[in-house]
Amino acid sequence: MCGIVGIVSKKNVVEKIYSSLTRLEYRGYDSAGIAVVAGGIDRRRVEGKLSNLHAELKKKPLKGTVGIGHTRWATHGLPVTKNAHPHSTKRVSVVHNGIIENFSELRHELERKGYKFTSQTDTEVIPILITYYLDEGEKPFKAFQKTLGRLEGAFAIGAIFADDPKLLMAARKGSPLAIGYGKDEMYLASDAIALAPLSQKISYLEDDDYAKISINSCEIFDKSGKKVERIVKNSGISGGAVEKGHFKHFMLKEIHEQPTTIAETLTAYYDPVHHKINLPKAKFDITKTRRINIVACGTSYYSGMIGKYWIEQLAGIPVEVDIASEFRYRKPVFERGGLTLLISQSGETADTLAALKHAKENKQHIVSIVNVQQSSIARESDIIIPTLAGPEIGVASTKAFSAQLTCFAVLAIALAKNPPGLLQQLVDTPSIIAEVLHNDCYEEIADILAKAQSVIYIGRGTSYPIALEGALKLKEISYIHAEGIGAGELKHGPIALIDKKVPVVVIAPGDEYFTKTASNVREVAARGGKVILISDKKGCKDLKDVTYRAIEMPNVPSFITPLVYSVPEQLLAYYTALAKGADIDQPRNLAKSVTVE
Ligand code: G6P
Repeated sequence: MCGIVGIVSKKNVVEKIYSSLTRLEYRGYDSAGIAVVAGGIDRRRVEGKLSNLHAELKKKPLKGTVGIGHTRWATHGLPVTKNAHPHSTKRVSVVHNGIIENFSELRHELERKGYKFTSQTDTEVIPILITYYLDEGEKPFKAFQKTLGRLEGAFAIGAIFADDPKLLMAARKGSPLAIGYGKDEMYLASDAIALAPLSQKISYLEDDDYAKISINSCEIFDKSGKKVERIVKNSGISGGAVEKGHFKHFMLKEIHEQPTTIAETLTAYYDPVHHKINLPKAKFDITKTRRINIVACGTSYYSGMIGKYWIEQLAGIPVEVDIASEFRYRKPVFERGGLTLLISQSGETADTLAALKHAKENKQHIVSIVNVQQSSIARESDIIIPTLAGPEIGVASTKAFSAQLTCFAVLAIALAKNPPGLLQQLVDTPSIIAEVLHNDCYEEIADILAKAQSVIYIGRGTSYPIALEGALKLKEISYIHAEGIGAGELKHGPIALIDKKVPVVVIAPGDEYFTKTASNVREVAARGGKVILISDKKGCKDLKDVTYRAIEMPNVPSFITPLVYSVPEQLLAYYTALAKGADIDQPRNLAKSVTVE
């Protein structure tokens, strides 16, 4: 949540800060701002998206050789200009990602000392506390250090000082922060993606680290104040990886990248010579696992549900799946030496990270399926099974989801000791998906969905989580109410919602459950529901008399249907949102990386 950027240079930094912020807008877009040191602190802040900041900067240009920028996902305080970052006093300006848990106590203390607050945010205590220490006679470095000692919660912070136009300070506790190395220029950002066009030489602050950054150097200190080295690596992210190319939206580009990203993910684990899966090396034997807890949020949670079906069916290992925000609270019973598997695209989701820590405290082996390999969840894990989807920018997850499914398929096959046939089905999946992408029926059906107030998705077996994911995709980007329901559960209540205004999207591959789902389709049709059927040639023919529209899919083995059948859902959601004129890559109220609980 929230994206932060900082640059210290010999030249004006405002344009570069702005363009780096555009690559972080997926983290939030409620308000934006930039501050620089130019004599004193100077800043521009706006409500809403970065484009508003662009307009503001045109009207009132800003110039300085050290600066910080922010794009916000609101937690404390409305998304209005006075709550927008950077938060400043005359002496210091601060950008912050995360939550300061003891802000109320600090605010009262500072108010008692006579300091005035102008926002409703938790963040504002940071610049005011730094100012208090500066007013007490401390130098910027010491004032920053003392302030950190007083803050509780999770945060990433960048700060600039009116008295020192060559200094950029940074600190990390819980929320990620990357430092980029340039020529006569140094950078700071919430992630390496933001810095991709500026620098690929990146180091990551570890928890409780803080850094003193100037034009040609970066000194990093750990919690005890000891100077430490953090490895400088090549981020490997090219500027082009975060461009839309010829696609209208990142989401559409990412949907179309799936044949490649699935193939790349599979290649990382597939040994074509011996036709088997090689999992990443671990200190324990993952194939001896007797029970697994899968934990994740959002789309990643739905991939976990499919993972459960696959692992239980293929390897016979019992699996429980939880949403991360509830995992700790239900107080799960852990088995000694059990395994908890976290799934996260960003690797920073606060609920998932908290679930990981809870499992660790209970002596579980920790495995994670993550897309960002430098993330907190990756770092805390005993083994990571990376998804090689590349940067995913669209807030609605698509290619990360199919890469997660690929990892689960690979894991289930390995746990089942490489049963014959399944690997070849996975190898064939990318070309089947390429075929599905070229069907030209999606826009016409999306026009029907765009007129609905409510849409229901049903499926059975692994198509049930796919129905849940389809409904989530539609609601998050088109704002149409949508519900995913197990096809058999429809009659226990939700069928009351069905009438001729309610489209029902049916995920019905030609698997062992088809006949049962077909009966549910007839129940829907008998109540006037508009059936949008996603099935193979035979399924479409069998249900032709009760189908309003059909999406004919290639014939695929049941194992890979979740991978193949999620694609038409993604395209339906995309074109529905497009028909409604919605903001597809940045849907309202959402953020891609959710670092608050
Ligand atoms: C947010 C995003 C979802 C995502 C979820 C989990 O809510 O909007 O698209 O599925 O977080 O994110 P993660 O990075 O942990 O997979």
